[in-house]
Amino acid sequence: MNNRFLDACWGKPVDRTPVWLMRQAGRYLPEYMAVRSKCTFLELCKTPELAAEVTIQPVDILGVDAAILFSDILTPVEPMGLKLDFVPGPVFENPVRTMADVERLRIPKPEEDVPYVIDAIKILRNELAGKVPLIGFGGAPFTLACYMVEGKGSKDWATIKRMMYAAPEVYAALMEKVTMMDMEYLNAQIKAGAQAIQIFDTWGGVLSPVDYERFVLPYTQKLINGLDRQNTPVIHFVKGSGTMLDTVQKAGGDVMGLDWHVNLGKAREVLGPNMAVQGNLDPTVLFAPKDVIEAEVKRVLDENAGRPGHIFNLGHGILPTVPPENAIHMVECVHRLSQK
Ligand code: CP3
Repeated sequence: MNNRFLDACWGKPVDRTPVWLMRQAGRYLPEYMAVRSKCTFLELCKTPELAAEVTIQPVDILGVDAAILFSDILTPVEPMGLKLDFVPGPVFENPVRTMADVERLRIPKPEEDVPYVIDAIKILRNELAGKVPLIGFGGAPFTLACYMVEGKGSKDWATIKRMMYAAPEVYAALMEKVTMMDMEYLNAQIKAGAQAIQIFDTWGGVLSPVDYERFVLPYTQKLINGLDRQNTPVIHFVKGSGTMLDTVQKAGGDVMGLDWHVNLGKAREVLGPNMAVQGNLDPTVLFAPKDVIEAEVKRVLDENAGRPGHIFNLGHGILPTVPPENAIHMVECVHRLSQK
């Protein structure tokens, strides 16, 4: 039974620093590509046995201390009434632009509308059998709304920002609905057996601190307050939030996810001793020679300075062209260098 990850989430001391990688199940692994070559990404997400298989691959191959459910933040948005495709980035053919569009959105019932997510969690808890904990996840309301309004990825997210400023009532109605969806979706994951929840706010950092506080914080706060997290720690990752961690912290949660634009030690000083942190190696370090990877792992561990409540991770998802042996090496370095 490896409880290092959960203990660190609660700020308890551990024998060595737990580590996992965002996007650890994915295209850099030949084992993933072998499964993926036989179906589309969405088919993979919707077939619980296959989703479970690729979830476990990095646990066996890398030796990480947690598994993260294989799915996507946008899977629960499809049953809200938006047609979803991946090319490979996500595309909605009917984006949300007006109040009528918002009113048409439905709030899915997870057990009926995304049964494959619930089933994958149950299969995984059974197959993992306590080997490592299982992390469930969802997108933060703002990042989900970004894709729902733009209809695809964007460099500047100008369409949703324009909605925020020019049609605040449409924006607010959309955010309310997405928050309710998220709450039911994440609570259903907890009920099915997810042992921690990560909330991904990949685009929260494209806003000024003031706009984050006005347009994002109230919804994420409501979401986290509405989660049944007595025994289930919540990790909140807002990419690009290094200059507004004090504001982001008001959303609640047990662990703050950090990207690599912030010094982990300085972030801990802002956050105080009662919040754990997760991060924050630059994902491109995994292209470096082995000794450089080791030195960079050591630097991040040194920034934490032995404080309890640190989960090692990358500052964002692993890149698809990383050699798997470098990821294996990174995990080994974290464990060896942090050994008590
Ligand atoms: O971490 C894991 O291993 C679990 C699986 C996971 C995926 N997406 C699988 C995936 C998780 C946690 C996500 C979250 C996700 N999805 C986020 C938040 C985290 C982040 O990376 O910022 C976002 C913004 C999305 C939306 C999304 N899904 C994008 C932008 C893309 C395309 C990106 C790209 O690199 O091409 C996806 C597709 C996707 N999600 C893939 C995987 C493995 C690649 C799909 C494939 O196999 O073709």
